[in-house]
Amino acid sequence: METTRVTTTDKPVDSFETDLLVYLATRIKDRAPRCDKAVMAQVKKAFDLGDFKGKKGEQLFYYPQVPAKEKQSSARRILVLGLGEIAPQEDGAMVCDTLREAGGHLAAACKKIRAKEMIICLPSLDTQGPEQVAQSLVEGVLLGDYRFTKYKETTKKKTDYEGIAAIKLACKTSVKLVRKGMIRGKVCARAVCAARDMAHEPGNGWTSADFAGFAKTLANTHGLDYRCIEKKEMEKMGMGGILAVNQGSAIPPRMIILEYQPAKKSETLLLVGKGVTFDSGGISLKPGAGMEEMKYDMCGGAAVLAAMQAVGEEKPDLGVVAIIPATDNMPGGSAVRPGDIIQHFNQVTAEIVNTDAEGRMILGDALAYGIKTFKPDCVVDVATLTGAVVIGLGHHYTGLISNNDTLAKSLEAAGKQAGEPLWRLPLNKHYKKQIESKVADIKNIGGKAGGTITAAAYLSHFVGKTPWAHLDIAGTAWDFTKKTYIPKGPSGICVRTFLNLIKNWKTGKLK
Ligand code: BES
Ligand code: ZN
Ligand code: ZN
Repeated sequence: METTRVTTTDKPVDSFETDLLVYLATRIKDRAPRCDKAVMAQVKKAFDLGDFKGKKGEQLFYYPQVPAKEKQSSARRILVLGLGEIAPQEDGAMVCDTLREAGGHLAAACKKIRAKEMIICLPSLDTQGPEQVAQSLVEGVLLGDYRFTKYKETTKKKTDYEGIAAIKLACKTSVKLVRKGMIRGKVCARAVCAARDMAHEPGNGWTSADFAGFAKTLANTHGLDYRCIEKKEMEKMGMGGILAVNQGSAIPPRMIILEYQPAKKSETLLLVGKGVTFDSGGISLKPGAGMEEMKYDMCGGAAVLAAMQAVGEEKPDLGVVAIIPATDNMPGGSAVRPGDIIQHFNQVTAEIVNTDAEGRMILGDALAYGIKTFKPDCVVDVATLTGAVVIGLGHHYTGLISNNDTLAKSLEAAGKQAGEPLWRLPLNKHYKKQIESKVADIKNIGGKAGGTITAAAYLSHFVGKTPWAHLDIAGTAWDFTKKTYIPKGPSGICVRTFLNLIKNWKTGKLK
């Protein structure tokens, strides 16, 4: 959780009193698992009895003799956790995800025994260095230990487990690298937890004003530039998309902008996140069943803002600008109607055929404004944009559409590294034709076929020639693939993908 203390040590672990001392073991076919020699005798005994093979998630729990004899551990409990087989040629990203999953198992083990602190002895792996091992484990534990209990007022018991207070990573060598990985893991996990917290908030608990407040605090804490375009200014600027979506709401819209520029002049990445704080569908009202889930329609905005939290802390060499067009989509008396025609910030006119296709309308203004104002080297937008992506890819891949192969490949690599896979879909003139309107430049729906792609076709009218990628997270922002470190509810998807993209950035790669 957010307040968990994470530290490193290269002192012998025997000397520390702790609730739980953890070792990790890798499986070797038909042989005793590979593990630290401190637990080898116990592991061998359990293996010979057929009780422990080191399979992924397998656990060997035991209690050191009491009273502790000399050279015995002062830990109250010892856990050996299996990682499964890790072949020398194993894909690095897969190994990182195995370690994150191990971290998730450890968070669950701590919850079960109500452990407040734990020491993890880092394994030495042939495939991954100490930095990656430390980062992945810390991410897994902190993300697995996540809980949202803010509104549990009267049902909260004094005995409820409040999470892990302290984690210590123990290593025999490379403590500097371990520390580096630990810090990165902590920064990334906390950013993801921030995104999950925002998403958990209901439509009355997280409005455009809350997005603005969070961004302003980030700006003050980390020295970022903050700007918020309010309704009056939007009207003057001609941001007809976000204004139309907001028409039926009692809460004003906001276009929130955060800018980070490193001391040394650099390229700039623009991130744009859909911040619909509740999507009722508007006049094209959604069915009642499951409508409450539409409080998650701001997960794109949350991902972008949470990534900025980590950017503020890490201060990378790349400039990063975040824009969140924020509003709810409500069917009030002055709501936009099907058939209405609007004009966007870049003069493009659109026929609104379905008011439930509102994400593209607010993103259109944000993309056009962001590109005109900041002239970024590339732009990535992220949005819970279409139900169609859930039909196409289920809950296991984020949909990716891009006008630039290099950017698409960089994002795919960053996502894979984060355990957040992306799947690219095509976009060409045939899909663009589907959103041609008889009465305006474009219309906001393109028919049943290829709904995810026609939504991206709409966005393509606002990016010009700038290298651009669109991420549709409607299937992954919540109910994402079951993993030990992904709880039910919002996943915080794309935060770590963005942080990898930024970290791996090579100047000039899109030229
Ligand atoms: N926020 C929804 C997309 C969505 C659907 C996200 C399901 C998560 C789960 C979006 O604003 C929407 O309503 N899209 C419509 C578009 C349609 C009217 C062309 C959809 O997907 O049904
Ligand atoms: Zn909608
Ligand atoms: Zn929506």
